[in-house]
Amino acid sequence: MVELTKVASAAFFNSTTTKIAMISPSQIDAILEPINQFLHCSTPDAWVEEAKRPENLPVILIDHLLCELKAGQSAMYLIRKYAVDKQSSSALFEWFKPYEDFAYRRIGDMSSLKGKSNISKSIIAKSDSPYSQDLIDKMVLLIKEELHHFYQVLEIMEKKGIAYKPIPASRYAKGLLSHMTTHEPNTLMDKLIIGAYIEARSCERFAKLAPFLDEPIQKFYISLLRSEARHYKDYLTLARDIAGEDITKRISYFGEIEADLILAKDTDFKFHSGVPA
Ligand SMILES: [Fe+2]
Ligand SMILES: [Fe+2]
Repeated sequence: MVELTKVASAAFFNSTTTKIAMISPSQIDAILEPINQFLHCSTPDAWVEEAKRPENLPVILIDHLLCELKAGQSAMYLIRKYAVDKQSSSALFEWFKPYEDFAYRRIGDMSSLKGKSNISKSIIAKSDSPYSQDLIDKMVLLIKEELHHFYQVLEIMEKKGIAYKPIPASRYAKGLLSHMTTHEPNTLMDKLIIGAYIEARSCERFAKLAPFLDEPIQKFYISLLRSEARHYKDYLTLARDIAGEDITKRISYFGEIEADLILAKDTDFKFHSGVPA
């Protein structure tokens, strides 16, 4: 973690509350240790070399912005399918509407998204749901944070003069999801394991890339580590708890697929892409 000395005193900041907290290199190491153990490979240097090129900053930030939305959407679809009652299901859709309008329909701007990352209605478990309120609570917190990150990325883009335009997703998430089993309850377990890998990889890449970016983005990326590491942990804990049996082999199976996607040559450059071809 030599590279991160530069961000030793990076601040955790929250743009809407201006709350500042400091993070030390040893705290960064402690956050990354379980992530690096969980992932079957680290991000190749060739990806970092490509990602730090100034001309690639727009694609990194736009793809990051959309990844925040997709992370929130995956959690939202998960609790809609497995856990929440009908009314909560519509409340969840309403919550995402301004973000989806912005990203997919080009409706709205920063002011229409300001302060929308909190949900006003409570999300209730459906009475016949075999899954606990714990799944809902963890996912609702995750969604709040991802939507707030979405706004923070937009703020950075605006400061950098980078205009938003929709771009297609990389092969990464699709590549993982294509290995998901179609039989319940294993499908839910697979979704949770895949969620853990995506969060863990994002966390690892923010830390890898941060030292090479300018100060505001560097601070922002370091400020994301704690929440992304918790998201990884929450997905994994939920997978293990809901499975109620040893799922080590299944976790390892997805670890191999994830590492293959990261280590294989990739002609498309994105936040989660493979080795630049
Ligand atoms: Fe995030
Ligand atoms: Fe996350």
